[in-house]
Formats: sequence, C-alpha cells, structure tokens
Amino acid sequence: MSSRAASNLLVHGDANDLGAHIEPGTADLAYLDPPFKVEKSFRARVAAGSRALGPVAYDDTWPSLATYLAWLETRLAVVRELLSPRGSLWLHLDSRAVHEAKIVCDRVFGPRRFRGEIIWVPGNGSKSKSGPGMGHQTLLLYARGKDPLWNGKDAALREPFAATSQAMHFQRSDEDGRRYRDRLVNGKTYRYYADEGRALGSVWADCPAMAANTPLRAETTGYPTQKPLKLLDRIVRATTEDGSLVVDPFMGSGTTLVAAAALKRRFVGCDVGELSLTTTRARLDAANVKYRWITA
Ligand SMILES: C[S@@+](CC[C@H](N)C(=O)[O-])C[C@H]1O[C@@H](n2cnc3c(N)ncnc32)[C@H](O)[C@@H]1O
Repeated sequence: MSSRAASNLLVHGDANDLGAHIEPGTADLAYLDPPFKVEKSFRARVAAGSRALGPVAYDDTWPSLATYLAWLETRLAVVRELLSPRGSLWLHLDSRAVHEAKIVCDRVFGPRRFRGEIIWVPGNGSKSKSGPGMGHQTLLLYARGKDPLWNGKDAALREPFAATSQAMHFQRSDEDGRRYRDRLVNGKTYRYYADEGRALGSVWADCPAMAANTPLRAETTGYPTQKPLKLLDRIVRATTEDGSLVVDPFMGSGTTLVAAAALKRRFVGCDVGELSLTTTRARLDAANVKYRWITA
C-alpha cells in the first residue's frame, strides 16, 4: 500500500489538492459536508461549553450560484477519483443548492451511479413565517462502480418492526426461540426475524443535531455546523468495512474522523480552516487516535 493513505492523516489545505495525498481508487467512503451556500460567515463558540460567539470558522458567501456549483464540481471530480471500485460518496447539503448539485453529481458520476438520498431531520424546528420552514437536509449518495459496499444488516441501519406487525406476523419461533415470519415472494420463501428489525428507510430523524450543537453535550466542540456523531457512525457503518479508508474533504470539527476511528477505519481529513485543524486535533487527541498532519 502506498504511504499516501497508509495511515490517518489531516491535510490543512484545499480539498482540491487531496489527490496529492491519497492514492487514487483507494477510499471506500467520502463524506462531503461543504459550505451549503447559506450566504453568511459561520462563527465558532468561544469555548465548547459556552454560547458566546468567537472567531469566524469559515465563510459561506458566494458571488453567484453558478460560481458555487463550479467550485463544488471541481472538488467532486477530484474526490470521485479517490474512490475504490466499491466506494461511495455522500454529499450533504440542504434545499439552498441540493437540487442543482444533483445535476452536477449526475454529470460527475453518471446518473446511473445515483443510489438514492437520505432526508436528515436535525430536529431544530423551523423559523419561517412565509412558507414551510426548512426542517430537513439532504444527503445524496453516489457510487463509483456498479457494486458498492452496503451493510444493510448492520444494527445501525435497522429499526424495530411496528408493534402491530410484530403481533400479527411474527408468531412463530425457531429452535433458538427467535420469533420469525416467512414470506413467499415470486415463488421463493424469505425468512425475517423480529430481532433483526426492518431496514431503515430514507428519512433519518433519530440523529438530532442538538447532540453536536448544544453546550450541554460532551460531543459539542463549539465548531459551527458540527454534525452529530450518530449520523456519521451510521454513514461509516453503511458503506465501509474494517480497515476501509474514509475521506472527509471538509472535515470541520472532525466528526467523520472520530466516527471512523472508533470503528477501526483509516481516515484522511482535510479543511482550509485553521480552527478546523485545531478543533479536529483536540478531538482526536482526546480520543487517543493517532494521526499525522500536514499543511498542503
Ligand atoms: C459544514 S462545515 C463541515 C462540518 C463538519 N462536517 C463537522 O461535523 O464539523 C464545512 C467546512 O468546509 C470547509 N471548507 C470550505 N472550503 C473548503 C475547501 N476549499 N477545502 C477544504 N475545506 C473547505 C470549512 O472550513 C468548513 O470547516
């Protein structure tokens, strides 16, 4: 294996240059949580436990939508080359630019590599008085090849069957006492176990943003737009396996890297921001995770 991605690495620089640090075709997962085109600058909290605002963490203002999309497309194309044949890319945005970004992704990956989307419900409520407030964000999922990794049996991607379904359908038990039902589909019998639950759908409302954004929670770093660990844990479990390389080109506070390390995946994180680097390093150090870091 090349030393370019052999060990955990932080790159302080532009995601556009990631190709210099990662062997092409080696990453099983890239999670991209770029600026959303919110048209404001995001300030950090002065300290993890405080509500007071500190320095600007990153700027999210753009001359035009076209400029933003061109910026994004260049970086998507760079990251696509890093993906392994079974690798996936998740692009996390909201309604401000996700619809236009879908067209960009279709161009970069080909429309047939689109694997679906997750509607993430941060659970912060919504403030709009003039229309439906934004109560969700969208994660577009694209694959590099035809046979991407997907661990649909992982417990993080399951939920309990509805109580009525359990009562009505899971009335038999096998020799180990596990309740199950058999279903005949197109002449073939499939067995479902009650304790395995059913596959999660595409709406995820059980990973509240609050876990990462309130001074009351240990997980909170004070970095703005920090995503909850539970969300990244699920994404890493869904599309990687032990030892996989996980790439986060816009690492912010390092949530993806913390989740990846906890699951024994290797990682490369990148960010242009100084505060991102210091926040991520402090987080990884606190979790006893070993890594190298470089300024590109
Ligand atoms: C939405 S935040 C990421 C938050 C992160 N997912 C977390 O959980 O903390 C977007 C990040 O993109 C970074 N960024 C903006 N332009 C960049 C670029 N050209 N290359 C790398 N990072 C960039 C910003 O500094 C910011 O930290």
